[in-house]
Amino acid sequence: MDVIALMDALNIPTAVLAGYDWGSRAACVVAALWPERCTGLVSVNDYLIQDIAHAGTPLPAKLEWGIWTQFYFATERGRAGLAANRSNIARLLWTNENPTWHFDEAGLMGSNKEGIMRRIALVAVAVIVTTFASVAAYMQSASGQSTGDAAPIYGVKIPDGYRDWRLISVKRLTGKQLTGAGGELKQLRAELGNDLAIKAYREGTLPFPDGSIIAALHWNEGSSDADNQALAAGFPGLDLESTFAGSAVNVQFMVKDSKKYADSGGWGFADFTNGKPGSEALHEKCFPCHQPGKDRDYVFTRYAPTP
Ligand code: HEC
Repeated sequence: MDVIALMDALNIPTAVLAGYDWGSRAACVVAALWPERCTGLVSVNDYLIQDIAHAGTPLPAKLEWGIWTQFYFATERGRAGLAANRSNIARLLWTNENPTWHFDEAGLMGSNKEGIMRRIALVAVAVIVTTFASVAAYMQSASGQSTGDAAPIYGVKIPDGYRDWRLISVKRLTGKQLTGAGGELKQLRAELGNDLAIKAYREGTLPFPDGSIIAALHWNEGSSDADNQALAAGFPGLDLESTFAGSAVNVQFMVKDSKKYADSGGWGFADFTNGKPGSEALHEKCFPCHQPGKDRDYVFTRYAPTP
């Protein structure tokens, strides 16, 4: 939880996690429970993910020996182990910690119980060693890295990896060509979000947190005779027609940074065609036209239900 909270605080949506010793446990647990936040894992040392359900059950003293330096006597498992295997633990300690001390069975088993307990307690305190773990989160932040030319006004570049972001919704836009070139406009559109945006959508968080990015991918509608013939053969008489995302038109981004873009509702806007940013005139229109969405943080698109 702390690792995730730290990443959230630093606006790091995804990272390569590296951990050593207890840190590798933390890194492994994050990788298992939040796979979407972990793009890679470097894990050094053992006892990775624990079987919590059975973690309290003591093993024979000899096996516990291998791990009890870390925490054994500070836990319920250590208490249970001491109750269940007291004499074996005592024997192990007497043998390993005092190799030159020749004790006899009677001495071990009872004549000097108090002394034994004191010794065990002393050794136990001495061996409780806390290993400080380090988890290094290397920034591989989708919102932090971007390439190519920056769009005018807002300076937003194309964020790396946006094509792999998760789906918010799809849209269809039809009408006359925006460029005024005549002809019919038929576009299919997909809205995708980076991890922070998707999380905000799913949890209903408004305004979107800094670091959220929403991408709008626009394509010309395409259609395939082969697809339609297959549909007609399967469902005769229904005149089914299928269309799909054909040639790419452009991609637009809204990038949340409440300080940097305080004058435009906290959003930076950017439009790219073939990787090249659109004109300044085009970018002047973005925020004013998004005003009607003010109540929803200037975002029009709603999260599509999961079918
Ligand atoms: C004419 C008004 C208008 C202009 C100008 C405009 N938008 Fe939008 N934008 C919309 C509407 C309406 C939607 C939702 C419908 C859709 O996506 O087709 C939308 C959707 C979006 C989305 C998806 C998130 C959302 O709000 O639903 C992004 C990202 C986006 N626009 C970015 C931009 C950028 C960048 C510019 C400027 C280059 C821009 N928009 C200019 C009206 C506009």
